[in-house]
Amino acid sequence: METAAYISDVRQRMGERVSGTPLAFVRTYGCQQNVADGEKIKGLLAQMGFGFADSPEEADFILFNTCAVREHAEDRVFGNVGALKHLKRRRPGLIVAVCGCMTEQQPVAERLQKTFPFVDLVFGTHVIHRLPELLCQLLTEQRQIMLLGHEEKTIREDIPIRRDGGARAWVTAMYGCDNFCSYCIVPYVRGREKSRRPEDIVGECRELVEAGYKEITLLGQNVNSYGKGLAQPVNFAELLRQLDAIEGDYRLRFMTSHPKDASKELFDVMAASKHIPHHIHLPFQSGNDRVLGEMNRRYDRTKYLSLIAYARKVMPDITFTSDVIVGFPGESYEEFLDTVSLIRQVEFVNLFTFIYSPRPGTKAASMPDPVSHEEKTRWFAELLKVQEEIASQNCRKLAGSVQRVLVENKDEKSGLLSGRTAGSLTVLFPGGEELVGQFARVEVTEARGWNLRGRICK
Ligand code: SAH
Ligand code: SF4
Ligand code: F3S
Repeated sequence: METAAYISDVRQRMGERVSGTPLAFVRTYGCQQNVADGEKIKGLLAQMGFGFADSPEEADFILFNTCAVREHAEDRVFGNVGALKHLKRRRPGLIVAVCGCMTEQQPVAERLQKTFPFVDLVFGTHVIHRLPELLCQLLTEQRQIMLLGHEEKTIREDIPIRRDGGARAWVTAMYGCDNFCSYCIVPYVRGREKSRRPEDIVGECRELVEAGYKEITLLGQNVNSYGKGLAQPVNFAELLRQLDAIEGDYRLRFMTSHPKDASKELFDVMAASKHIPHHIHLPFQSGNDRVLGEMNRRYDRTKYLSLIAYARKVMPDITFTSDVIVGFPGESYEEFLDTVSLIRQVEFVNLFTFIYSPRPGTKAASMPDPVSHEEKTRWFAELLKVQEEIASQNCRKLAGSVQRVLVENKDEKSGLLSGRTAGSLTVLFPGGEELVGQFARVEVTEARGWNLRGRICK
């Protein structure tokens, strides 16, 4: 059967099962790549006639789109799926499904189905486009369904997207990852690197700008290796050049950049661009060369710092954010201190910090790991303290300045608007809800810890 036939079949069968519009609840964990997948899943569900619920209690179809990057992420999913048991007992017609990176690990997928026999459907990251077929199968055969693997060489360009990021849109530039950093599960669950054709990306971005989106973020696990394997290879800097040429009032961001493939050309394009903010998320993971080698990151501290120096040379106002891992197997306290000194040297405006979490099947998971979790937690706290100091210093530097801010939402607790500067700092300021999704000129009045406070300039 064709996808269209599955879609109308599911529409009809769901129509018979529930009165009114069937409702779906999709909860996405993990990175923006997963968020983008979630938007495709919702696009398909909408085609199949589903509306969307804000809570699992109201839904006829519940889907957890999972992340496997750290153990904690997986534990949360097990907890949250388990909590659906009572709901399912009360409403046997409820459909429960799990997809995403966790399910691409066969043993985890099997454990999920065994532990929670009420999970109806489990599917992996490569078969999202087959959701209509899987739902159709489930509704006709009434048995547990699991579909993993099936990675294809080509990229599907025909999956509808139901965006829910307000004025911000996620656009996948490339799928998968070939880097095999020794601690990381992503290459195993996301498959090989595949780049979308530049004309498809440009076309999608042009439509988004025309539709009024104010911020486009290009996604890929390592956007700097974009273009390998295309019929006519185009590098990432060139892709950015083509996208920046789209006329309109919008920001163009991208993530994630791997330092081993970041080029001077990339920073030159950023410096010359009209739409790319002077900010880059450039994960360094560790400031110590031996640890970087063990991580299989394929750059060293000197190379990382020379990228930072070059970026600052061509864009003196550039800001940096980064990811860092504390307690990689075999890391000593002295080696950890190299990470702290790199943080002091670069002065990141924000850091995403993680304690190393062993992922079964990765190379690092079988390395000796003598340092206790308690000890790693102490190092982690030490690092956070240093970063907090740096972040608040960075914030203080901006006091009194006027920033162009994209208003993202109204902060529920404070009732203030929350927006982001070009440099990716959050500013809270009073203002009306109608500004959400718009750019605003905001004068920074004070720095409170990590956050800026401000007021709208007339
Ligand atoms: N592709 C991106 C990052 C993807 S995962 C990159 O290369 O930068 C996001 C972050 O999670 C990583 O940058 C890393 O800091 C962290 N991470 C990945 N695997 C981890 C693990 N096993 N334990 C702890 N942190 C991990
Ligand atoms: Fe993981 Fe490394 Fe790939 Fe990033 S580049 S997804 S850290 S293997
Ligand atoms: Fe998690 Fe998968 Fe992203 S493992 S971090 S959701 S690619």
